[in-house]
Amino acid sequence: MALGVAALPFTFVVHALGIFLLVLVLVWTIDFRGGFAWEATNKSLIFNIHPLLMLIGLIVIGGEAIISYKSLPFTKEVRKLIHLVLHAIALILGIVGIIAAFKYHNESGIANLYSFHSWLGIGIIALYAIQWIYAFLLFFYPGGPVGLRTDCLPWHVVLGFLIYLMAIGNAAIGFLEKLTFLENSGLAKYGSEAFLVNFTALITILFGAFVVFSVLSQAPVEEDQGYSPI
Ligand code: HEM
Repeated sequence: MALGVAALPFTFVVHALGIFLLVLVLVWTIDFRGGFAWEATNKSLIFNIHPLLMLIGLIVIGGEAIISYKSLPFTKEVRKLIHLVLHAIALILGIVGIIAAFKYHNESGIANLYSFHSWLGIGIIALYAIQWIYAFLLFFYPGGPVGLRTDCLPWHVVLGFLIYLMAIGNAAIGFLEKLTFLENSGLAKYGSEAFLVNFTALITILFGAFVVFSVLSQAPVEEDQGYSPI
């Protein structure tokens, strides 16, 4: 399925929003929340690693990986390599980001996996890893038979899309959850930090929307518009 327009303008918006998102999350975690640390007496600095890595990893780099077939002027083989490497980086950053959330909880005496956000988060990272591993084996190395690859490719596309959309939604829930905790601890509901966190969640959704537009639009090269076995 494709929108009857070229993907390239949408992919430029994805790049721009990705940089903007990075700036927003850095301003929040550094200026408002005090920065990052893996070992610290102030455990909030450990938590701050979580939103940073989840956004850079699963959302921004994961989004760039998804649109790489639409945004890059290379051959299919090169774009496949970029696609799988970017997804590997996204997955590793996501795993480290989740470890940071667990570390923060454990060292602060807070229970693990009590929220919908955390349940969905574990599901997303597990599916992301499974999707990456089977796709690597089937489409890259050692590679499956052509018939199997042709049959599996639409599933790879649809499942990857679904996992990505769940990640976008879960990041928004994460912002909501953290802001609610902060507001319950006295943060001003109409203050600048509350505005920044809500705005960052909004830009996250917008970023996801432009990834969707890019995926559903037409690739620059005519022959690449369909999902043929790669
Ligand atoms: C797709 C991206 C994300 C995934 C997959 C994810 C996943 C997770 C997981 C698995 C936990 C559980 C840690 C534990 O139980 O010890 C967690 C905790 C948490 N995350 Fe995220 N997260 C994501 C993005 C975010 C973002 C952007 C924020 C924004 C601040 C956030 C805020 C939180 C908070 C406040 C907690 C602690 C409370 C809780 O366990 O629900 N998360 N996250």
